[in-house]
Order: sequence, then structure tokens, then C-alpha cells
Amino acid sequence: MIKEIVLASTNQGKLKELRKLLSDIEIKVLSLNDFPEAPEVIEDGITFEENALKKAMQIAKYTKKLAIADDSGLEVLALGGAPGVESSRFAKNDKERVDKLLKVMENKRNREAKFICAIAIANPGNEVKVVRGEVEGVITEAPKGNCGFGYDPVFVAEGYTKTFAEISMEEKNKISHRAKALIKAKKVLEEKLLEV
Ligand code: IMP
Repeated sequence: MIKEIVLASTNQGKLKELRKLLSDIEIKVLSLNDFPEAPEVIEDGITFEENALKKAMQIAKYTKKLAIADDSGLEVLALGGAPGVESSRFAKNDKERVDKLLKVMENKRNREAKFICAIAIANPGNEVKVVRGEVEGVITEAPKGNCGFGYDPVFVAEGYTKTFAEISMEEKNKISHRAKALIKAKKVLEEKLLEV
């Protein structure tokens, strides 16, 4: 029997990425587009793991299938870890988020930051597993580049000189927090830690 997993998101980019990563496993990847009546999950956790777990558990319970969910964001050391789990709510669009971050970082000498991604996998029996991927780097003084999304134009990964918005998606996918977490999540699925 082919197993199914539901991605707790309607984001087509995330769905494509997950399908590509799991293409060599016998598993069908569905998303919340297949469950339009699914209840909205409120992301009110104080950690990325908490939010990812909450989403995966609620969707597994609702769909009665294996579910996978992620939560990600940017932590800036000089800001005590902000915007963190509030990354998407920091301002109303990508440009405003970047502008606001640069403004609060004015005169800050320590520019260390990291992107974090937590991915949770849950089955309807409430068995769960959560993994984390991180990429460390620095916040630039000004935005650069047109690729990517979110805070990419102001983030330079350790060992790089270009921002995430100046490197190709292939290159970013080799080192990103999401890629690292996805590889760990795939291992969880392969090891069949969560039998349905
Ligand atoms: P979510 O995990 O889809 O809720 O996204 C959280 C927010 O973190 C996004 O809206 C972005 O602002 C930010 N973020 C997460 N991952 C990245 C990334 O790879 N590049 C830039 N911004 C990111």
C-alpha cells in the first residue's frame, strides 16, 4: 500500500520542494489544498518546534494521515533572538520586513544571525518527531540581490560574501536551514519511526 503524507500548508513552493526530496520514497505527498475544510492552526508557540509540532499534530488528527509541518524564521543575536517566531509578522511584506530589520540594526556592531527551520512529523496516534536545521551568518548594512524571499537580501551565510538573494536557488538549497531540516525529516520517514 502506498503511504500518504499531508503537508500542513497550502504553499505550492513548499509542496514542490517536499515532493522533490521524497521522490525516491514510496509516499504520496498531499497538502492542505486537498483538505480545504481543514481548521486553521494558530501559530502561537514560543519556539519554532512548538509551532511545527502543533501544526503537524492537528493536521494528522484532522486528516487521519501522517502529517508534516514546518516553522522557520530569523534570529538576530543583537536583538535577543528577534524577530524569531515572529519573523513573518515583523512587518506586513518582505520589503517592510527588511527595512524594519535594517533600521533596528542601525549602529549595531554585532551582526550575527541565523535562519532556523523546525520540521515536525506526526501520525494520527499522536506519535511525533521534530527536527531542526540552522544556517549561521550575518545581517548586511544594505539589501542586495533579487532572488529568494523574506530576509534573503540582507543575510550572508558564514563562508559566503554574497547574500541569499544573490546566490542561485540551487546553491541556497545546499546550505539552507530548510534543506538541512528536510534531509533530517526524510531520514525520520525512511526509518519508519512513525508507522501509520
Ligand atoms: P514560515 O515558516 O513560512 O512561517 O515563514 C517564516 C518567515 O521567516 C518568512 O515569512 C520569512 O520572512 C522568514 N524566512 C524563513 N525562511 C526564510 C528564508 O529562507 N529566507 C528568507 N526569509 C525566511
